[in-house]
Amino acid sequence: MAILPILRYPHEILLTESNEVRAITPDIERLVKDMIETMHAAPGVGLAANQIGVNLRVAVVDLTAGEKPGEILVLVNPRVLENIGVYVEDEGCLSLPGFTESVKRPERCVIEAMDLDGRVRTLEGNGLMARAFNHEIDHLNGRLFIEHLTPLKRRLIKKKVQKRIRAGDWDLVPA
Ligand code: NI
Repeated sequence: MAILPILRYPHEILLTESNEVRAITPDIERLVKDMIETMHAAPGVGLAANQIGVNLRVAVVDLTAGEKPGEILVLVNPRVLENIGVYVEDEGCLSLPGFTESVKRPERCVIEAMDLDGRVRTLEGNGLMARAFNHEIDHLNGRLFIEHLTPLKRRLIKKKVQKRIRAGDWDLVPA
C-alpha cells in the first residue's frame, strides 16, 4: 500500500472524464487500497481515482475518515439513479486545499455501483453521503465542485490558484 500525492486543480486529469472499469483485477484491488490509504492520510471523506492520476471510474467514500473500517464504501463505475431535494452546505475538495464554498447538492441520492466482489449494488445516501456520492461521481466526469458555483466565485478561485502557481506555492503534483 502507498500514500500517493493528490493532484491539484487544474491538473488535466482532474478535468477529464474517466474510463469504465471492465473487471475487478488485482490492479484495481491495489488501486483501491492505495486510494483508501491516501484518503485517510489526507484526511478526507472521499477520493476519486483521477485525484491520484488514474483515469478509471473508481471512488472511495468514508464519512468516518478512518474511524470505522466497516464504513468504507468502494464505488466502481458508480452512476446516479436518482437525486432528490436540495440542500446547501460548505464543501471542499482535496484537489483544492484551502477552498471551501457553499454548494447546492441533492438532499438524497440513489446510486448504482459495483463493489470489489464485482457485484452491482444500489446504495442510498442522505445529507453528507448524498453530497459525497455526487461530489465523487462529478470527479469521475472531470468536474470539480467549483463548477457548481457562480461564474464570479469560480473565476475568483481560479485567479487565486493561478496566483499561487506563479508564486511557486501550488504544485499540480505535490511532492
Ligand atoms: Ni474532491
